[in-house]
Order: sequence, then C-alpha cells, then structure tokens
Amino acid sequence: MNYSLQLKELWPSVRAGLLCERKYGALLNNFCPLDHITQELELLNATDFVSEACKKAQRSQGSAAEEETGTGEESRSQERFGEGRIVMQAEMMTQAEMSPPRHASISSKIKCYTFPRGDITRFRPARPDILGLLNYYLMDAASLLPVLALNVQPDDFVLDLCAAPGGKTLALLQTGACGHLAANDVSICRTKRLHQILYNYVPTEIRKAVSVTSCDGRDWEQLGGGTFHKVLVDVPCTTDRHSVMEEENNIFHKRRTKERQMLPMLQLQLLMAGILATKPGGKVVYSTCSLSPLQNEHVIERAVEIAETQFNISIHVEDLSHFRTLFQDTFSFFSDCRLGELVLPHLTANFGPMYFCKLCRV
Ligand SMILES: C[S@@+](CC[C@H](N)C(=O)[O-])C[C@H]1O[C@@H](n2cnc3c(N)ncnc32)[C@H](O)[C@@H]1O
Repeated sequence: MNYSLQLKELWPSVRAGLLCERKYGALLNNFCPLDHITQELELLNATDFVSEACKKAQRSQGSAAEEETGTGEESRSQERFGEGRIVMQAEMMTQAEMSPPRHASISSKIKCYTFPRGDITRFRPARPDILGLLNYYLMDAASLLPVLALNVQPDDFVLDLCAAPGGKTLALLQTGACGHLAANDVSICRTKRLHQILYNYVPTEIRKAVSVTSCDGRDWEQLGGGTFHKVLVDVPCTTDRHSVMEEENNIFHKRRTKERQMLPMLQLQLLMAGILATKPGGKVVYSTCSLSPLQNEHVIERAVEIAETQFNISIHVEDLSHFRTLFQDTFSFFSDCRLGELVLPHLTANFGPMYFCKLCRV
C-alpha cells in the first residue's frame, strides 16, 4: 500500500519485478587472468556494462569538446534543417538531460558482465583459476552503482562501514586504487563470510592489507574519526526484495516490528558516523536496497541537518543524475527521487531496488 502511493502507476511493474527471479551481474575478478572468461561471456552475449558506460561518457565528452571548438557544427545544422521542432527538443534534452557532466568519471577497472535487457540467462557458477581464486562474483549488478559513485582514486583511504558479506568490498578492491581499505561489520558471523569472500577472490598480500573489524559502526568516530577520503555506508534496511519473497529472517515479521521501526534511526546514526569518519573534502556514499523514502532521502536530509547544526559540518549532496544517462541501458531508474538515485526492479532488467546518494563533506 505504501509503495503504490509512492510509485503510483510504476508500482505494478516494480511489484512484478520483486516477485520474479532477480537478475545477476558477474563482477570479474581482476586478480585472475581474464582473457578466457571475457571471451566466454561475450560469446554468451553478455556485455560489461561499466565499460559500455565509460565509452558512452567518453563519446559525450568528445562531442561536448567538439561543440566548444566549433567542429561538427555543420553536420548538426544539416541535421536540424527540415526536421523542425522535434529535433530542437531532442537537442535541448541532449544538453539538459542526456549528456553526463564533464566531471563525470567512473572507474573503468571494475568490470561487470550482464545479459541484455529481457534476456534472463543465468550465469554458471564461477570457477577457480590455477591459483585457486574464483574468476567472477555473482551479485545484483545495481549494487555496483554505489561503489562506482564513490569513485575511488589512487591511494585513497577507504572505509566500508557495513561491509558484510562483502560484495561491495570486493568491488572496491577491484578498482586497484584503495591506498588502505577498512572493512567493518557489526555481525561477527557475517564478517566470517566477508573473510571467506576475500579468501576466495583476493591474493594473500592484498588481503592482508585490508583491515577487517567487527565494531558497531555507530562508534566508528572513536576508532578513526576524520581520516578517510572515501566512506561507503551501505546500511541495514528492509531489504525489500528479500522481504517479499522469504519467510526466514523477515524484517516484516511481527516479532521484529520494533527493530523495523528503529531502522531509520540506526541508518541515520551510521550515516552520521560515516560523515564524521570522512576527512574534510572527502566523500560518503549512502546506500540501501529499499524503495522506502523514509530509509533513503529522509535519512540524507536529517543527516545533512544534524551535521550542520550539531557538528558545524557543511554537506553538499552531489548530483548523480548522469548515472541515469550512463546506465539507462542496463537499469531502470526512478526519475522522481528528490535526492540521490534509485534503481527500480523491472521485468526486463530485474536488478535492485538500490538507492544511493553521494555526499561531500565540505
Ligand atoms: C546491506 S548489508 C551490507 C552489505 C554489504 N555492504 C555488501 O555489499 O555485501 C548491511 C550490513 O550492516 C550490518 N550492520 C547492522 N548494524 C550495524 C552496525 N551498527 N554497525 C556496523 N554494521 C552494521 C549488518 O550486519 C549487515 O551485514
């Protein structure tokens, strides 16, 4: 009932997506030899959606540069001629909505293969290479968007505050850019799964440089405040896809009512801890796999307000709308998010839900 009010006419299709089998992406493991596996995936008609988006960004930046230098003008005026208003409108849209901004950069080192829209082929399980490392990790491809939004730069100190079971930690390592990576999760048994993923996918010398802890993320400030360039806050949430399908551990179960009601408060506290762990000028990406504005935009708004009033910290919420343009071939985005971006499940592209929002500690 709640989501039908929020998503209106989109809800029946989102609901159908949630009730059907989800789609996976295969995050390639850069620590393995990859020639063979990329060939194999491409033969199956899967493509690396990250490199496709990079190419798209480069093309649009190239044509923006052309526009600045005046080249290409002639061909465009020929295109305009005779097609009147429709072309003009398309052009206005090109500039306002379709071109990613000049600063839009995404890490091209992360490679994730997905099958095209409407293709529901399943990936076969990953295989180990000669050193015993698995060649890809199957995950909801939309889970990579918060990592791409974080845009880790060489030698960045990175904190993954709620890291287990570790899909996003693994993606952060695939950038090859983390100067230091701290991966934390309050749950000891889930942290064991994180260790297992690192063991299965990451060579020993790199694995040893990741510091894995099991602290309550809300206390992080006491452990290392203001020291990170990039912080990922991938909070516990109502995990909507799991909640509509699974009985076990369901957050909507009566006995978990209190815990569910307290989620936005926990999320806010974790986001505040993430903000305080960031250096001035550093970035925080907040993410959930819920459709709920109470767990998404509202948490952002409250955190920005508290940072300002209680800690005298200014926060700038970054515009990520270029993600919609770059990744629209792979994901269905909600176009009415007040802050951040939301991937909606859809039968032809059944990823998500995934909400992500990027903050800069000014
Ligand atoms: C959405 S999951 C994280 C998924 C993970 N980032 C990944 O990509 O695999 C949320 C995690 O938050 C952890 N968590 C819950 N409360 C926490 C707290 N107070 N401090 C740190 N982690 C917490 C849960 O144990 C859970 O593993």
